[in-house]
Amino acid sequence: MKTTQDFITMKQTGEKIVMLTAYDYPSARQAEEANVDMILVGDSLGMVVLGYDSTVPVTVQDMIHHAKAVKRGAPNRFIVVDMPFASYHGNLQTTMQTAAHMMQTTFANALKLEGAGTVIDTMAHLTSAGIPCVAHLGLLPQSAQVQGGYKVQGRSAQAAEQLLKDAKACEKAGVIAIVLECVPHQLAKMVTDSVTIPVIGIGAGKDVDGQVLVYHDVLGYGNHHVPKFVAQYAQVEPIMLKGINEYVAQVRTQQFPTLRHSFSMKEETLQALYG
Ligand code: KIV
Ligand code: NA
Repeated sequence: MKTTQDFITMKQTGEKIVMLTAYDYPSARQAEEANVDMILVGDSLGMVVLGYDSTVPVTVQDMIHHAKAVKRGAPNRFIVVDMPFASYHGNLQTTMQTAAHMMQTTFANALKLEGAGTVIDTMAHLTSAGIPCVAHLGLLPQSAQVQGGYKVQGRSAQAAEQLLKDAKACEKAGVIAIVLECVPHQLAKMVTDSVTIPVIGIGAGKDVDGQVLVYHDVLGYGNHHVPKFVAQYAQVEPIMLKGINEYVAQVRTQQFPTLRHSFSMKEETLQALYG
């Protein structure tokens, strides 16, 4: 398994870090099989797996439930687990309890928290207790209603300067990496060049230290909205639907099951039964 230090070395040598989300045993198994560097158990699971229209309804219990399955599927991968909506904004003691509970039940390698401001102090506090933190800056899906929707962040000079400051502060707080979502590629490069920790982009262009995408987006799985910054590498939804449709049709037309899918009794047993 790669470590925090390996990711810093990858940044230094320019080897791109590949991160993919996973939410259950099979997706995690595939991510490990495909040799991704890091797995994110993202709270995007609220949308792509649980059918909510935002990440807001996702609970700590939801995250733990999915993260445990991911760990079973990818026992040898660096796993980052999202702390969900409003689970790290109470007092530090409560946040510490929640974070410790998540670490101890999921065996995650790090937790990811959205936002700067007081969240940076929180990440410093968790780090001091031995909980590696990944910061999530730029577009913050948990705060979409505060940010005014799912929009590109850091377009003005003022917002860009703030983001650079926030990234620096995250580094100082001891976070192990920054996920940077939906910012102009020029700004993403500036952020990447200004910190010694890896910056993993999503909708942040190519001049970052790595990329993260959502499993369902990469595979064309599901019917949720797919953002502009996503590249789809497969279209599994039609293939899956075709399979299910054929099953439905074959049961209705009695083409399934055949004898090949059935079990039989010995002839003499049947004789005995019929008498
Ligand atoms: O929840 C998630 O999948 C994420 C990524 C999009 C970065 O936070
Ligand atoms: Na997330």
